[in-house]
Amino acid sequence: MRRGFIFACTKKSEKEMLDNLIFATNKVYGYKVLAIRKDDFVFLYNIDTDILYGTFISTTDGQYDNSIPLFNGRYPYFVKVQPKTEIKKLNNASIVFRKLKISWRDILSERGVEVLSKILENKNLTLSKNISGLVEKNFRPPIFSTTLWDFPTQSYGDKPKGNNKYPGVTPAFIIYNLIHRYTEPNDLVCDPMAGSGTTIDVCKEERRRVIAFDIVPTRPDIIQADARKLPLKDNSVDMIFIDSPYGDNIKYNEHPLNIGNIPASDEKFYDELEKVMQECYRILKYGKVLAWLIGDQWAKKTFIPVGFKVYERLTKYFQPVDIICVVRRNQSSNTPFWHSKAIQHNFYLRGFKYLIIVKKEHKKQNFGNLKIEWRSYER
Ligand SMILES: C[S@@+](CC[C@H](N)C(=O)[O-])C[C@H]1O[C@@H](n2cnc3c(N)ncnc32)[C@H](O)[C@@H]1O
Repeated sequence: MRRGFIFACTKKSEKEMLDNLIFATNKVYGYKVLAIRKDDFVFLYNIDTDILYGTFISTTDGQYDNSIPLFNGRYPYFVKVQPKTEIKKLNNASIVFRKLKISWRDILSERGVEVLSKILENKNLTLSKNISGLVEKNFRPPIFSTTLWDFPTQSYGDKPKGNNKYPGVTPAFIIYNLIHRYTEPNDLVCDPMAGSGTTIDVCKEERRRVIAFDIVPTRPDIIQADARKLPLKDNSVDMIFIDSPYGDNIKYNEHPLNIGNIPASDEKFYDELEKVMQECYRILKYGKVLAWLIGDQWAKKTFIPVGFKVYERLTKYFQPVDIICVVRRNQSSNTPFWHSKAIQHNFYLRGFKYLIIVKKEHKKQNFGNLKIEWRSYER
């Protein structure tokens, strides 16, 4: 399926984009550019003059090059285009966008492209009042700007991300958001407990390099290793994502080194996770981010604040960056049976997970040679 992408430009950048037939943008919309495939449809919208140009065809996939000698280096995400036929101009484009209930920030469906192209060509078009289906709703997750993240499905896009049948599979939009925030294309991302490989699939689509481990690999591109002893050099990765076991609530496998066989009520569980944290600290580059997904437990009539306990251990090594609340959906306890049990026995079903984001602080300056002359002053 071919989709449509609208690039924004200004009075200043319009000429450079049209002359070079290269449409470009910055990190804010970089995620959209990386979703472009060769032969998708592209439009250019001048936000100063409210003019839309089209229709263009992308001659490449969306690209990233932070040394591109155009736009004063401000727009490293770009695509090369060719006009489909003669370039058409549409004045007062914002009025048309409003009528179609689309925004230039949206990714357009094939139908959306067809409608917008016809309007550009001035062709007669009868639009029904309840016009819909012009926008690709969940083709890519949103980039969240608050600390509450929620998305309806485990995966998104054309290809599956991980395996949604794998117990404890990670919602892919979490990894998608993290890598767009904390890495650039070609950076190296590591997942030490990769499960069904969601991190691999998201990273590959977003043009990040990725290395993934698990104690019991489920696919050939996951390397067998214990997350407490990873075959990686010190200070070598740009971001780490971990969705660790939350205790022994899910049976991943019978491997004796599987930390998911230790209950969250046992302090040993946190001691073993702390060894994983130390290993993450060793392999992560200074100034880079580790994101840890974790949920609390309510088991055997007891609440265990697993998230707080993991946070406490993490901050022994790392600097906190933020904590995200990720809404839990599609879990097995989301049934009328469990809802009534929760009310009858006065407990709560887990409604969210913590995404704890921490940073390996830059190396402390070495004050070893600093001479301090102590003096005492009379009071
Ligand atoms: C919550 S799952 C990860 C889910 C994964 N992110 C996905 O999307 O499919 C936790 C994983 O930790 C792995 N694991 C448990 N102990 C481990 C250890 N010591 N070293 C490496 N992986 C381990 C389990 O095998 C399991 O696959």
